[in-house]
Amino acid sequence: MEQNIDYSDLKGRYNFLKKAKKELDLTRGRPSSQQLDLSNNLESIMADNFIQDGIDTRNYGLLEGLPSARELAGHILNSDPSNIFVNGTSSLTLMGHYLQSLFFQGSGQVPWKDLKKISFLCPVPGYDRHFLMLEKLGIKMIPVPLLGKGPDLNLIEHLLEADESIKGILCVPKHSNPTGEIYSKECIEGLANIKKVDFKVIFDNAYAVHDFEASAELPNIEKIFIENDNHDSLVMLGSTSKISLAGSGLAFLSLSPSNMNHFVNYFSRFSLGSDKVNQARHARIFNSKKALDLHMKKLAKLLKPKFDLVQEKLNSLPEGIATWTKPTGGYFVSFNSLNGNASKIYNLCSEAGLKLTPLGATFPYGKDLENKNIRLAPTQIELEDLSEAMDLFCLCVLLAEQED
Ligand SMILES: Cc1ncc(COP(=O)(O)O)c(C=O)c1O
Repeated sequence: MEQNIDYSDLKGRYNFLKKAKKELDLTRGRPSSQQLDLSNNLESIMADNFIQDGIDTRNYGLLEGLPSARELAGHILNSDPSNIFVNGTSSLTLMGHYLQSLFFQGSGQVPWKDLKKISFLCPVPGYDRHFLMLEKLGIKMIPVPLLGKGPDLNLIEHLLEADESIKGILCVPKHSNPTGEIYSKECIEGLANIKKVDFKVIFDNAYAVHDFEASAELPNIEKIFIENDNHDSLVMLGSTSKISLAGSGLAFLSLSPSNMNHFVNYFSRFSLGSDKVNQARHARIFNSKKALDLHMKKLAKLLKPKFDLVQEKLNSLPEGIATWTKPTGGYFVSFNSLNGNASKIYNLCSEAGLKLTPLGATFPYGKDLENKNIRLAPTQIELEDLSEAMDLFCLCVLLAEQED
């Protein structure tokens, strides 16, 4: 760590950058164009052969997806392909459909719409779009701190004892958004041990295969839940949004056989099939574990220098004013101002042209009570701009301190 930062001309340097007001953006976890270019082969892979798995992919049918696409999704989620449902392009949309199915039909229990109140546990800091979805569905959100290898299980136990309305928990088990943490075996086992009727542990495994350097292995979630005789509590989701094309990838859901029956019964009222042409394109390109691994390695090569640069810049900050995560995969770095300066930093950045994820977004209802967390999303921006963005960010962190 650099200990002797020259505080004398921070304001001068800041004013210079503010005047230049270059537009810099670290708001959202989007893939860069270079990443997307790696999937240009999807465009031509079908040629004029539309038969996949013996099925004419152009027609209606197969709501649950092509067998080869279910196999690919099963590999990504570490789930038996027979438990997989592949449909649409967005795992968020699929999560929305699944939650709505619980409200309007239920999964063998009373539909949630007939209950007075539904609450969910929300590990924090977390993914803003999860919170926005739960809020829109009228689900009360209860924050639970993440401890580095998953949420606080003791607190979860107390909360569950005290509140009957808690019906689920929404987790990102690998390279969590934004903390980057990977849930431990003990944590997954603890969650698999929650034996509460009609309780759902939802794992949004959006970054399941997204390591940009050697990473801890995520335990086999499905196996642990089945061994705990609790498969009906488990819901897993994922997509290829950050593997192939964001917006034109494959989204998938993994459910126990009983939950699958309920969900297919519900969803079949709204759709006659799935986009099997897109599924076949993906199944052909990612036709083996080796092919997928190779592709993820190419993506990692593009991502690692960006994350290294973020660490290098943050490491120049003096000790004691902030902490931040050092992820080994995923799309984010989670920054915490130790002196509750997040809003000051955010405002200074935004006045000088650096856009950040809105303050508080990583907490339910947008409420970061300690005013400390800022999510940094360095994937889309070019390396050169990222360097400028991080210089400006660090400058604003120092200025916010100075103003204290
Ligand atoms: C945890 C998490 N889940 C889901 C998504 C979006 O996934 P999809 O494109 O499949 O809707 C993101 C995107 O940032 C994410 O971080």
